[in-house]
Amino acid sequence: MAYQNILVTREENIGIVTFNRPKVLNALNHTTMEELSAAVDELAADSGVRCIILTGAGERAFVAGADINELHALASAGAAAEFAAWGQSILFKIENLSKPVIAAINGYALGGGCELSMACDIRIAADSAKLGQPEIDLGILPGYGGTQRLPRLVGEGRAKWLILSGERISAQEALRIGLVDFVVPAAELLNAAKDLARIIANKAPLAVAWAKRSINVGTETDLVTACAYEASQFGLVCSTEDRVEGTSAFLEKRPAHFKGK
Ligand code: COA
Repeated sequence: MAYQNILVTREENIGIVTFNRPKVLNALNHTTMEELSAAVDELAADSGVRCIILTGAGERAFVAGADINELHALASAGAAAEFAAWGQSILFKIENLSKPVIAAINGYALGGGCELSMACDIRIAADSAKLGQPEIDLGILPGYGGTQRLPRLVGEGRAKWLILSGERISAQEALRIGLVDFVVPAAELLNAAKDLARIIANKAPLAVAWAKRSINVGTETDLVTACAYEASQFGLVCSTEDRVEGTSAFLEKRPAHFKGK
């Protein structure tokens, strides 16, 4: 598929999606969301891709939110609810993808941009990045899962602070409260994301996919049920050829060659 608002590239076994509307700080309009959804499908189906990075073009923004022109034009409660549910479904697709997704936050990650980063598995921010949920300043609330994922990540009080005040915080502050996982100098961001992606991409793909799924399912479930789920995934992963290869390689003191089987 030819994309207008994003770039989709591949480096070794890493897929990179770059939001590319720098004139509007990579704001997410309808077309961009459609393209993101298609790119995720494309990279999910590509067996050569084992890990995905999302980032923004230019130096100023990862994604500065949903496109405010489109928010301004929403004509009814029904249309707005549909807008939110559709965006949420694309973020769920990313969250539930069998391949890990890393957000490389190169600048503003506001509103829908912050929400998008929270649907990713790991967030690495440039030291110059700014994050927040400023929807309150537009007279609205986050609609792409922000009121739900933010408290799960940083706790209820901090989520209410950010969502009710609209305050934009630095990468360091985001690191302190657990909204991002790593902060690196801006010039090193993409390489840092690629280094991490490369490490993950060379692990056993089924073990990676099912570990991700076990964490995702388990963190939304009580501990006893979650551990039972983990045991079922452990059973599944132990039936793979890669389990035999990984354990044999260790015992034979040689590198493992995983096949994703
Ligand atoms: N939707 C649509 N356009 C956006 C946008 C968004 N979310 N964020 C930025 N833009 C546009 C601006 O309108 C401006 O366009 P123009 O050059 O035609 O005037 C351009 O991007 C550059 O933004 P500008 O505001 O001039 O840059 P700045 O450095 O002064 O401020 C921000 C940067 C990110 C602080 C500011 O753009 C901002 O607050 N954006 C909205 C953030 C937001 O509320 N996001 C949540 C939406 S739900």
